[in-house]
Amino acid sequence: MRFLLILFLALPTISSANAIWGKTGHRVTGQIAEKHLTRKAKKAINKLLDGHSLAFVSTYADEIKSDRAYSSYSPWHYVNYALGTRYQDASKSEFGDIVMAIETCTNVLKNPNSSQEDKIFHLKLLVHFIGDLHQPMHAGRSADKGGNDIQLQWFDQGTNLHRVWDSNLIDYYNMGYVELANELDRSIDKKERKQLQQGGVYDWLDESHEFAATIYSSVEVGEKLGYSYAYEYNDLVFSQLQKGGFRLAKVLNDIFS
Ligand code: ADE
Ligand code: ZN
Ligand code: ZN
Repeated sequence: MRFLLILFLALPTISSANAIWGKTGHRVTGQIAEKHLTRKAKKAINKLLDGHSLAFVSTYADEIKSDRAYSSYSPWHYVNYALGTRYQDASKSEFGDIVMAIETCTNVLKNPNSSQEDKIFHLKLLVHFIGDLHQPMHAGRSADKGGNDIQLQWFDQGTNLHRVWDSNLIDYYNMGYVELANELDRSIDKKERKQLQQGGVYDWLDESHEFAATIYSSVEVGEKLGYSYAYEYNDLVFSQLQKGGFRLAKVLNDIFS
């Protein structure tokens, strides 16, 4: 009985802990970026992270979610605004959002008066948030919490639209993060890479938000998704992961070089 009670209490935690651009997605983004840092950025980052890789620290911002002391950081992972509008024109949340989060992290890292401890914390968060920025459902609609309230089936398993894009599509591909990162790194030339590093956080967010609109119209509530959905959207998932990686490198190089 006690076991059942514990299981029952733990279930909501287990399911919400999964509602995050899955670990693989974040690690791919970190792993790609790692290979495109300038010498100066690499040195500064290596020192702050005590030798750990960007891939390794990329999931830290999700790990602290289980600690109530960090609950004020929860709204920093996403922003919701009306489809067909731009972030710049949207009313902003007093609790912060992913854009304000990225700006805060950047400012802390650039400020020579910031403590080491603050720099380390905000660097880990920044690596994570540039990843989240490229998960289109982190730039979705507030009525359904970025797709979290849109229940679906993924093959024979219950899921929701948010989770399909956080992890179901990526996990389905069954490649490790290093393999995926290598693949996405080698399949683009320098000119294309420079191209997708153009612009800034506002552009990248509105681009994700436009993909979110397409994704919302790609499903009916309760639908069972499988092979054909993966076939249709694999390219978009991979392209977003690739952009996340190269843009993270750009953001870090701008801060540390
Ligand atoms: N909670 C509310 N909206 C969300 C979103 N877009 N992504 C993740 N969690 C959310
Ligand atoms: Zn998520
Ligand atoms: Zn996140």
